[in-house]
Amino acid sequence: MSIESSRADVIDRLTQSGGQGVLRFLTCGSVDDGKSTLIGRLLYDSKLLFEDQISVLERDSRKHGTVGDEVDFALLLDGLEAEREQGITIDVAYRFFATGKRKFVVADTPGHEQYTRNMATGASTADVAVMMIDARKGVLVQTLRHTYIARMMGIRHIVLAVNKMDLVEHSRGRFHEIVADYLRSAEALGFETITPIPMSARYGDNVTRRSEDMAWHTGPTLIEHLEELDVSSDIQNQPFRMPVQWVNRPDLNFRGYAGTVVAGIVRPGDTIVVAQSGQTAMVERIVTADGDLVEAVAGDAITLVLDHEIDVSRGDVIAEAAARPEVTDQFAAEILWMSEESLLPGRSYLLKIGTATTPATVSALKHSVDVNTYEKKPSRKLDMNGIGYCNLSTARPVAFDPYQQIRGMGAFILVDRFTNQTVGAGMIEFGLRRASNIHHHAMDVSKDDRARIKGQKPAILWFTGLSGAGKSTVANLVESKLSKAGHHTYSLDGDNIRHGLNRDLGFTDEDRVENVRRIGEVGKLFVDAGLIVTCSFISPFRSERQMVRELVDESEFIEVFIDAPIELCMERDPKGLYKKAKAGEIKNFTGFDSPYEVPDSPELHIKTADLSAEDAADQLIAELRRLGRLG
Ligand code: ADX
Repeated sequence: MSIESSRADVIDRLTQSGGQGVLRFLTCGSVDDGKSTLIGRLLYDSKLLFEDQISVLERDSRKHGTVGDEVDFALLLDGLEAEREQGITIDVAYRFFATGKRKFVVADTPGHEQYTRNMATGASTADVAVMMIDARKGVLVQTLRHTYIARMMGIRHIVLAVNKMDLVEHSRGRFHEIVADYLRSAEALGFETITPIPMSARYGDNVTRRSEDMAWHTGPTLIEHLEELDVSSDIQNQPFRMPVQWVNRPDLNFRGYAGTVVAGIVRPGDTIVVAQSGQTAMVERIVTADGDLVEAVAGDAITLVLDHEIDVSRGDVIAEAAARPEVTDQFAAEILWMSEESLLPGRSYLLKIGTATTPATVSALKHSVDVNTYEKKPSRKLDMNGIGYCNLSTARPVAFDPYQQIRGMGAFILVDRFTNQTVGAGMIEFGLRRASNIHHHAMDVSKDDRARIKGQKPAILWFTGLSGAGKSTVANLVESKLSKAGHHTYSLDGDNIRHGLNRDLGFTDEDRVENVRRIGEVGKLFVDAGLIVTCSFISPFRSERQMVRELVDESEFIEVFIDAPIELCMERDPKGLYKKAKAGEIKNFTGFDSPYEVPDSPELHIKTADLSAEDAADQLIAELRRLGRLG
């Protein structure tokens, strides 16, 4: 196996599979704590380097190295020229090595403060975290942050690698001081083992061989510890779980359910259950590209053939019948936020768990965690690298197990719906209710019935635009004209709703998100009542307008962009608010110090600089008629 293995495929194979005897660990620490040197030392001493790589290394050390004539092990890892020049490692790199006793996969994660994302990625598949500490500097904020994330990602074993002991004269006192300092914070997190080792990675002291200079250390060397550490408790003993990737049906004679086993063991003859539907069946065959298996374990990509047909599709989870996972649309989870745009409760994201994808919102941010002190703080949003404890609600129920029980079943990511970027990683703690316990009560009178009596089709007319653009004016005219013509309407308006239902909300981003979310829900109820409802809210963010759109049927949401240049709005200034904003008397004023995201493709775009409110209202009513909403 080569040292610089190509990432994606090898990572998939080695980091996911629960193969016996493989230990996965990651190294964490700040820049210059010696992570790369340590890993280089392990690789070098385990003699897995090829001769030609060693000679390249020796040559490079003389060119870039920072240790005189000796081999610089850090260079072994910093494969990229750019990284070398910056002197930091940026991305997770997986390395593989073996000793006589065990095989190892090590995730080398960067220490730079902004790369928390990579650390979390590395930690999510590791059994052990090696926390590197520079003996001269002691425990840093970063050390505590990484320790918390390691725990959160399900790591149960810590090695406290107190490195560069040669630079503190191999002082036993200094070592004990650092260990005591670390334990004061880390002990509360409940790791199974925390093993402190004084070392000098550059010289291999207590890494792969005992140190004569630190004869006072009676514990194991790093490699001895990693060789012996028992991490076996889990994955095979867990109940069988397989999220279904696809249903394989090449012809009428074959129907198989394909996926990768994330926990437990499955054998022909086992009874399985589909988590979502509760349907059961017996496993007849376990098919793979290399022939049928007599059993499959975590990490195996398989196709299950069952004794009879059941309803299964992508996103479902096939599980051991006697231990069915929970299915819920409300759960509590810890979230690590990874985007520069803050997490805002109420905003809709895409949640991906296993092979399932569903829209989801954070319904409550219970608290955030100060990763430096491990204190809980009340918070209304989460910024980049922030950790929060949240309730989430999903549009469709998902099957899960708590993350700390089965990582592969409790981990999810949140994806931004517009940029498609991963913005958060989450770990489910527990379900808040079983989806099957709360039903929609079917009423005898339907939305269609209510609308038919009124001789119309219900709709939300969503007016968005700057303050002073004319939203309320046009909406008001539309409502009067409609009601004069005998239609049934209602009108929701920012200024009014903020006196009642939304009295508790201000104008921060998170409050605006919640404002629009509530209005969306209320609008939906009015649509259900069969009404044509006008909603006039600045609603500055695309995300929330899209969320409201998705709450109702496609034909029921009509977005009306009331467009006026900010200069004109300022000139009109009907409530004198622009004047106050300019004078600095009000903060977060849209268009000033709070953003407005212009609609991409509104159903109607009305420029109030060119069109009177009367004409705008008539145009809108004509559009409603054309769409058949007026009966
Ligand atoms: S939204 O952004 O959350 O959709 P909403 O439409 O409910 O806002 O309320 C906007 C109205 O509140 C404005 O028309 C204005 O009268 C008033 N207002 C008071 N402070 C602000 C502010 N900082 N930004 C925007 N509007 C404000």
